[in-house]
Amino acid sequence: MAIRNIVKLGDDILRKVCRTQLTFDDKLHQILDDMAETMYAAEGVGLAAPQIGILRRYCIVDVGDGLIELINPVILEESGEQTADEGCLSVPGQYKPVTRPMNVTVRAQDRNGNTFTVSAEGLKARAFCHEIDHLNGKLYIDR
Ligand code: NI
Repeated sequence: MAIRNIVKLGDDILRKVCRTQLTFDDKLHQILDDMAETMYAAEGVGLAAPQIGILRRYCIVDVGDGLIELINPVILEESGEQTADEGCLSVPGQYKPVTRPMNVTVRAQDRNGNTFTVSAEGLKARAFCHEIDHLNGKLYIDR
């Protein structure tokens, strides 16, 4: 495993729409492992592939209840509303209130390509939305 450089605000990479991840091989697993190490070292609760310079649709989240890897995630349902300060490892030192759904259900693939569905609320729902935004070239400061 290795800590990767986190792309910062101002880099065009963060504004691009990522492409579908089609292969579920050792290379992907290595990148996901590196992303986890990078996120934990930076004390973040989520990290998306474009933040380490990879324009593919996957991200990781850990809000304190375990690591979840979302490959090609899609939000199936969202409900409710919450507003709280949000930050981003690509926008260091800044926090700003963002309104997000209180509950989301996401369908994604795991690192082996198996499809699963996961529901989340509160901070975890917020993290899912924030990271999936990254895959579409959106930053929380745009919201
Ligand atoms: Ni972010």
